[in-house]
Amino acid sequence: MNFKVKNDTFLRALLRQPTEYTPLWMMRQAGRYLPEYRATRRQAGSFMGLCKSPDFATEVTLQPLDRFPLDAAILFSDILTVPDAMGLGLYFSEGEGPKFERPLETEADIMALQVPDIGKDLKYVTDAVSQIRKSLDGRVPLIGFSGSPWTLSCYMVEGGSSDDYAKVKTLMYKEPKLMHHILNVTAQAVTAYLNAQIEAGAQAVMIFDSWGGALSHSAFHEFSLAYTQRIVDGLIKEKDGVRIPSIVFTKGGGLWIESIADIGCDAVGLDWTMDIGVARQKVGHKVALQGNLDPTVLFATPEVIRNEVEKVLSSFGFGSGHVFNLGHGISQHTDPENAAALVQAVHELSKKYH
Ligand code: CP3
Repeated sequence: MNFKVKNDTFLRALLRQPTEYTPLWMMRQAGRYLPEYRATRRQAGSFMGLCKSPDFATEVTLQPLDRFPLDAAILFSDILTVPDAMGLGLYFSEGEGPKFERPLETEADIMALQVPDIGKDLKYVTDAVSQIRKSLDGRVPLIGFSGSPWTLSCYMVEGGSSDDYAKVKTLMYKEPKLMHHILNVTAQAVTAYLNAQIEAGAQAVMIFDSWGGALSHSAFHEFSLAYTQRIVDGLIKEKDGVRIPSIVFTKGGGLWIESIADIGCDAVGLDWTMDIGVARQKVGHKVALQGNLDPTVLFATPEVIRNEVEKVLSSFGFGSGHVFNLGHGISQHTDPENAAALVQAVHELSKKYH
């Protein structure tokens, strides 16, 4: 197996080392906007059927790379594999998103929660990581990922997606000790899970705190960031003499960018609400930044896409430390031709900033 990465632009940008252009990948780059993904999913029977088969997971991970010259691959899986392995029974009902058969409803449910046996219950994920690494054969680096303890807890307590997170936030305010117990067990699980992905071949890891932005200033620091920090502290930092960078993405976290940059991660992901140049002024000497085009821009024309790409690139300005991405996942209604226009625009227009 060839362990050398032919295109390591993404890894260099995360470490703020010089690059020839700004590398990019797209959150949810393997997904329903691609007809080939929909075809493979039909073959697999379901979304979890894709995740649980290393062959299918490898196939769909590579699909966007075969179409576009992206600078990174991301493991095809889901953040909710961890609570599923903790026994909550994940399923996807058509049109309703993820659901749990056994959400955390009582104190007894919460106290029974245990760190899963990663080597057994999440072996399908680490098997997928090794197989994807083999199939990539050094083309681009592979990103592993997990949800943050707070974001996973949102799903575990709500039993699925929610508009207001009323159940989990009520638990947090009324029973903070129980909330901390869930977060503590989940943080241990996530640390072990990400380290297992690194051992299997992930070359960078990303923590998705998709619902951190639902919290107040003090609650965010106490119930979300403190646990993300524990994970970052516990991550394997180097493998075979090569640094494994970590990225922390908090949707709606622009207000807290300085405290996020302080937890020891290598890069901070930004949603589209914040000016990336302002973010750079606040944290540029500490971390790289990843983001932050509004994914809805991809519903416009290639000309508009080019203009909006230029705005993000010029706002970040000269030098390394920027991984271009969308501010959140690509919509399933995106025309793949517009994703192609985005990739081309970033590669062409960014050269002058390096
Ligand atoms: O980025 C990638 O290409 C890698 C794969 C990936 C998926 N989910 C595949 C997926 C990643 C990194 C995730 C992370 C994830 N999953 C997050 C964090 C990122 C974010 O979006 O904020 C969250 C909150 C989830 C939970 C989840 N999984 C939801 C809410 C849904 C339904 C959403 C929807 O668009 O319907 C999923 C399902 C899911 N995960 C799909 C994909 C491609 C769509 C499933 C399908 O094929 O029907």
